[in-house]
Amino acid sequence: MLSSSSPSLAYPSCFIGSKHQVSFKLQHLPASERMRSVIRLECANSVEKVSNVVSEKEGSKLWVKRKRLAVFVSGGGSNFRSINQACIEGSANGDVVVLVTNKHACGGAQYARDKSIPVVLFPKTKDEPNGLSPDDLVKVLREFEVDFILLAGYLKLIPVELIRAYPRSIFNIHPSLLPAFGGKGYYGMKVHEAVIASGARYSGPTIHFVDEQYDTGRILAQKVVPVLANDTAEELAARVLREEHKLYVEVTTALCEDRIVWREDGVPLIRSKENPEEYY
Ligand code: GRF
Repeated sequence: MLSSSSPSLAYPSCFIGSKHQVSFKLQHLPASERMRSVIRLECANSVEKVSNVVSEKEGSKLWVKRKRLAVFVSGGGSNFRSINQACIEGSANGDVVVLVTNKHACGGAQYARDKSIPVVLFPKTKDEPNGLSPDDLVKVLREFEVDFILLAGYLKLIPVELIRAYPRSIFNIHPSLLPAFGGKGYYGMKVHEAVIASGARYSGPTIHFVDEQYDTGRILAQKVVPVLANDTAEELAARVLREEHKLYVEVTTALCEDRIVWREDGVPLIRSKENPEEYY
């Protein structure tokens, strides 16, 4: 949607207007027109995130605060490992500062301990009596100064206390092309079995924002993977998982560089790193 004239910065062509909005120059217009016509998008999750910008000069690179990430897992944690690896190698401008799990002995939690990443148990259950309450979990995440929460194979519903405490800051990865094959009961191999049984020729991971229900938050990124004629659920799962690792690292990298923006109709987009005037 176009709006009337507004000022514009050199890079990444955004400014903060009223109601926490930023505007972006349109690529196809001549330079003179670009300064007058803008597409309206909201920036990151709030002005808070915009204030992470440390310094900004006309024509110079934008410096962005390194983000503090919490990852939630219930199982092996292969997505967690690839995200953590990207942080360690420096391709993502962030650090996993805490691992949250509902199963203290799961593979993801073991890996976190090996890497000296603190492990927090949530929720409190019969099996995990040392688990935190939702309010205590929020307090702990605040103490760790967590910016973003990445769910990576975490099987429990996220409590409303956490969703309210971290608006537009919680993400999940699901192994199908949502909104298909999502919601309660669609987890693990069940997702891939249902995809194969349906006859769908394509599947793939979806990364979405988290709301109070399973798999219904706004879609941020997807990757298409073919479903082959003789696929077993395990073969399809392995093909999708390889793409999950790439996609979650790509999204984490964008997140840590404040490259997520909101279209006026509420759809989140990622600003391309190579061409800051393109979104996907
Ligand atoms: C992934 O398939 C993810 O899409 C789903 O749970 C699985 C977690 O796998 N939400 P891993 O623990 O990251 O290996």
